[in-house]
Amino acid sequence: MIKKLALEKVNDEIYACMICPIGKTGVAVVGEGSANARVVFIGEAPGKKEAISGRPFIGRSGQLLRFLIRSIGLSEEEVYITSPVKYLPLRGTPTKKDIDHGREHLQRQLSVINPKIITLLGNVAAYGVLQEKVAVRKDHGKIIEKDGKKYFITLHPAAGLRFPSLKKLLLEDFKKINSLL
Ligand code: URA
Repeated sequence: MIKKLALEKVNDEIYACMICPIGKTGVAVVGEGSANARVVFIGEAPGKKEAISGRPFIGRSGQLLRFLIRSIGLSEEEVYITSPVKYLPLRGTPTKKDIDHGREHLQRQLSVINPKIITLLGNVAAYGVLQEKVAVRKDHGKIIEKDGKKYFITLHPAAGLRFPSLKKLLLEDFKKINSLL
């Protein structure tokens, strides 16, 4: 309960942020799931559907992400799903500035939730959280330990929608998450 209230407070700060919406559109998409999550999934930035509804990962990539989560026996309610950038960027892709600003909010969310595993879905998530470029195609399926935290590297589900071989790879990566919990 304490974590739930603390996360609500952080999320209220994100809704009230005057910097986040600059150069972006729609409503804030702070994330959804449990404040007590053992696994957090981090994407890139909301798409159009998300920016209208205020909910993360509800479009096609989201359907795949949610399927992958259920495929390893977890429920969407027990994990937390969010992104480094909380609004739809005007040109779809977030800028470095968007990601660097979003990191401040994301880090606050992560320090409240304090999950066992932080799953980084693709390059933007990896840069957004670790502040370093990660070769996601090469290092997917691996754990990076940094500052006492465990980061699991995998692809963004959008890649799995484009190429069936990458969807297979995502399914295999996700199976590893269970063994880390
Ligand atoms: N891609 C993301 O990274 N986040 C969403 O919410 C939707 C698509």
